[in-house]
Amino acid sequence: MRVKSSEYKKCNMKIWNEVAPRYHKRWATVSKGPFQSTQKLISSLQIKKGDHVLDVASGTGVVTKLLKQKVGKTGYVIGADTSTSAIKIAKKWNDKSQNLLFVNADAENFSFKEKFDIITCQYALFFFPNSQKALKNMRNSLKKEGVLGISVHGHPDRVPYFDSIFKAVTKFIPNYIPPGTPDFDRFGTKKQLKNEIKKAGFSKIKVNDYDFPYSPGTFEQYWKNYLRYVAKPIKEKLNKLSKSQRKELKDTVRGETRSYTKRDGTIQFPWEVLILTAKY
Ligand SMILES: C[S@@+](CC[C@H](N)C(=O)[O-])C[C@H]1O[C@@H](n2cnc3c(N)ncnc32)[C@H](O)[C@@H]1O
Repeated sequence: MRVKSSEYKKCNMKIWNEVAPRYHKRWATVSKGPFQSTQKLISSLQIKKGDHVLDVASGTGVVTKLLKQKVGKTGYVIGADTSTSAIKIAKKWNDKSQNLLFVNADAENFSFKEKFDIITCQYALFFFPNSQKALKNMRNSLKKEGVLGISVHGHPDRVPYFDSIFKAVTKFIPNYIPPGTPDFDRFGTKKQLKNEIKKAGFSKIKVNDYDFPYSPGTFEQYWKNYLRYVAKPIKEKLNKLSKSQRKELKDTVRGETRSYTKRDGTIQFPWEVLILTAKY
């Protein structure tokens, strides 16, 4: 059965409420691998002191933390996300200040009285079932001279950290990702991403691709961390596999990682990230 987009969103919200603390610890607080993108995104936007910035799907606040430094005391930053637990972490982790605010708002439905100089959105566009609605919403909230900055993961072939597990797991658990879930890879090429942003009315679109290699340690560490950090509904599906299926699955994933494994046993994955800037 296909999930409706409203059901998907409810479920995704629940997942992010549950996953946020682990995501924060494992990714957001460590500027390794794909999270080198935060600095790149910020530096590609030429943010000035005094700017008003909105960070859409701000998560646990990794982007807002840097944005706040850039806009200084005369500017301000709003982080918007649908996960209350992510917002709670973001508030605690980002220093308290008058010019930084976190709000519980859906990217497809928010509205602010004011217009922003800059809008950012890191690693979230692919989660929005109606990404056009979210992008048009962002455009409506941008000043005429405003700039948009988006980061997404690249094509699955160039992000084997996810793909090595995904390819194997979907063989064992066909409904691993419930039907009706938006395709998370749909903006994974420069062309796809550019077209999507253009369709929403933005101009002067530039996309750069980066490789931020990431080592998850040995295969055993990669696998253990996957099981530890995965969202609860997926863990429940994995737990339903028999012992022999689990072993077979693990061996299949191991096979997928082999070409990225160095002589000393550690895995070194490439990790493509696309960073886009566009004008109103
Ligand atoms: C991978 S995290 C990225 C968070 C942050 N931008 C970062 O770089 O760490 C994705 C975030 O998107 C949020 N999210 C998903 N769907 C959303 C929606 N429709 N509106 C607002 N936030 C949403 C999730 O709650 C989660 O915090």
